[in-house]
Amino acid sequence: MNLDLLSGDTPTRNAAVSVFRAKAALRAALEQPRRDGQTIGLVPTMGYLHEGHLSLLRAARAECDLVVMSLFVNPTQFAPGEDLDRYPRDEERDLWLAGDAGADFVYAPAVAEVYPDDFSTAVEVGGPLTEVFDGDPARRGPGHFRGVTTVVAKLFNVVGPDVAYFGQKDAQQAAVIRRMVRDLDFPVRIEVLPIVREADGLAMSSRNAYLDPRDRERAAALSRALGAVERTIREAGSLQAGLDAGRRELAGAGIEPEYLEARDAERLEPVTELGGRPVLVAVAAQVGAARLIDNVLIHT
Ligand code: PAF
Repeated sequence: MNLDLLSGDTPTRNAAVSVFRAKAALRAALEQPRRDGQTIGLVPTMGYLHEGHLSLLRAARAECDLVVMSLFVNPTQFAPGEDLDRYPRDEERDLWLAGDAGADFVYAPAVAEVYPDDFSTAVEVGGPLTEVFDGDPARRGPGHFRGVTTVVAKLFNVVGPDVAYFGQKDAQQAAVIRRMVRDLDFPVRIEVLPIVREADGLAMSSRNAYLDPRDRERAAALSRALGAVERTIREAGSLQAGLDAGRRELAGAGIEPEYLEARDAERLEPVTELGGRPVLVAVAAQVGAARLIDNVLIHT
């Protein structure tokens, strides 16, 4: 296909999708469907689509009259030194896959369309939700989530979706977005769909593309570790024994986790005992060239 066709403000057809670069054009295209009472589903992505993204698109297609996917590698959620420059990109493939999975519109703005030169506003969810796990200042830090909530708030304002779809793989991101929606009264329902995994258990992620064959094999230890945590918690009834079993599984693959922790799934506060609210056990680790995250939700 001719990518030049995609650089203007006029939507162009690609497979079944119309591509928009400008928010004004997208808003205009959404006006009539909204007036007609059509429901709008939004699937926010940074592209390099995999089955995880496609499962969100298919769910949106099944539930909504009109499906919008955003495709934007959001610079404000990357800290200096992170992988913004090498983040995998393949727009042409993404547009075909999105169309195939049921997207009607793709919003793929340039950075300047989202962040004009004098952009000076941020949307920030405070407190433990953005300070633990990836939000710990020694890790990605709260600035990562400030970047996520700022861009997602902007997408909600541009698209005005009835439903927005996110993946459980980014469990902390989903909790943060739910809180933002509640606190700022966004009239949108948030749907969080299960992690989609490779045959050996590795959670699908655009960043898996960074793994060489040996690290790709080692990376499956993350999901095995979470399985060991869950199994041990159920068998031994002890959170600590579960986390220890998970660490042993990681160590066996030569992986030192940044964290392997259990927290209250909604508030991300520490869990001291089992038997109450759902527990989120999350792991992050550098495996070769890729920083990977994964998690399991345990109903104790
Ligand atoms: O999950 C992602 O891909 C991104 O964090 C999101 C939600 C599209 C915001 O840039």
